[in-house]
Amino acid sequence: MFYVPVILGSIRRNRESIKVARFVIRSLQQRSDVKTELLDLKQLDLPMMEERLRFRDDAGPNLLEFSAKIARATSILIVTPEYSGGYPGVLKNALDYLRPEYKRKPFGIITVSAVATGGILCLNSLRQVILHMGGVPIPAGLLVANVQQAFDAEGNPTEAGFHQRTKAFLDELLWFTEAIANQNAKSEQQSS
Ligand SMILES: Cc1cc2nc3c(=O)[nH]c(=O)nc-3n(C[C@H](O)[C@H](O)[C@H](O)COP(=O)(O)O)c2cc1C
Repeated sequence: MFYVPVILGSIRRNRESIKVARFVIRSLQQRSDVKTELLDLKQLDLPMMEERLRFRDDAGPNLLEFSAKIARATSILIVTPEYSGGYPGVLKNALDYLRPEYKRKPFGIITVSAVATGGILCLNSLRQVILHMGGVPIPAGLLVANVQQAFDAEGNPTEAGFHQRTKAFLDELLWFTEAIANQNAKSEQQSS
């Protein structure tokens, strides 16, 4: 079983990105080999990062929970809006707390935007950050453009092709998830 938590990078009032995160979580839950859950930065409410977790002995329970779940993750999915041509500060603040937890883990990135560009600038800049932290951003991305019109009142995509695009993106993420999980298992066997 692969554990693939979803980090939601928006804490904005009336945030639209939560619709994307909920839809993707429902899609992942349909897969028998995946366990997922939302890691909501709004609920986690992590303080501004004064120092990385590994150099602290006074971390609060929410930061410890965030760290433990990312450490346990086989791969990580980020759903995030594009703000000011990049990623939201609240997402970077959370990511900066950790580092060993990301090592060699595949990251899928879904970007959300109110306009037609779909958050491509955020996708590209977040990939650089993930590489720097030792994670593995997958080549596929999923862009959600014009998010205000992208979901109906029940939270289903309004665009016919979005289901297929989501499936193709998740297939890619799970391919890398399984490949890296197998390689990690091999490395563990060799070292035991
Ligand atoms: C501070 C701020 C900056 C933004 N900058 C961008 C941007 O650079 N590119 C873009 O496509 N949308 C931008 N937007 C619009 C967001 O894409 C839109 O608000 C979308 O709903 C964001 O997701 P959210 O509702 O979860 O916050 C910005 C929104 C905010 C609040």
